[in-house]
Amino acid sequence: MSKVFVNIALSLDGYIAPENMTLENWDRPELWADKWGSLMAWALNQQYLRKKLHLGPGGETGPVNDMIRDTFENTGAHIMGKRMFDGGERGWPEEAPFHTPVFVLTHQKRDPWIRPGGTTFYFVNDGPEKALALAKEASGNRSIRISGGADTIQQYLTLNVVDEIDIALVPVLFGGGRRLFNNIGEPLPQFRISRVLDTPDATHLRYVRR
Ligand SMILES: NC(=O)c1ccc[n+]([C@@H]2O[C@H](COP(=O)([O-])OP(=O)(O)OC[C@H]3O[C@@H](n4cnc5c(N)ncnc54)[C@H](OP(=O)(O)O)[C@@H]3O)[C@@H](O)[C@H]2O)c1
Repeated sequence: MSKVFVNIALSLDGYIAPENMTLENWDRPELWADKWGSLMAWALNQQYLRKKLHLGPGGETGPVNDMIRDTFENTGAHIMGKRMFDGGERGWPEEAPFHTPVFVLTHQKRDPWIRPGGTTFYFVNDGPEKALALAKEASGNRSIRISGGADTIQQYLTLNVVDEIDIALVPVLFGGGRRLFNNIGEPLPQFRISRVLDTPDATHLRYVRR
């Protein structure tokens, strides 16, 4: 069934990205890359993602790998903010790992950016509701992933259109950075826990809207 969902890695103290992980500091990875690596290590150890990101052979093939594969296969469109896109534009392989239309919330006017392998980035200047309408049109009967970052997720939570939140809660502390659950407008959406998958590297929590 088609749904609108968030799927995000979160530090134990509530951050999705460390302090200083900005475009200005992109060439100074000593300021942020260790923390980012510690947040993403569980994912980059999974066979499915290693293949998708061209990180080489190997990787785990258990339930976390299956979960990631299901997520990608069931997603028909992605929505992201311009800051997430900016980092990805520098970091993703040429065949960007989405293979669907991707709608980028931005004030910048830019023509669609077509990548090999079925990913096209569309730059949307008319706000989150318009991006969601475009994503719904493009996704067929598959789901829409609000990919991040925090600013973008907060806007969709405020619109109360998020059906599900998947959090990989990683046992690292950042002490600062981009906080996930800030600036969410009332009435706050409410969720219940629908699945917990426990591993030594991360606790995978799924929340569905009440
Ligand atoms: N931990 C994870 O799983 C995870 C997942 C995804 C991302 N991230 C990280 O999250 C960080 C980025 O998050 P973020 O919260 O800083 O930013 P973001 O949500 O990625 O992007 C925010 C930017 O998008 C544009 N934008 C957002 N809403 C808009 C609107 N309604 N209309 C027009 N433009 C709009 C604006 O850029 P302009 O004004 O410049 O257009 C805004 O500054 C990155 O470090 C990324 O790596 C982490």
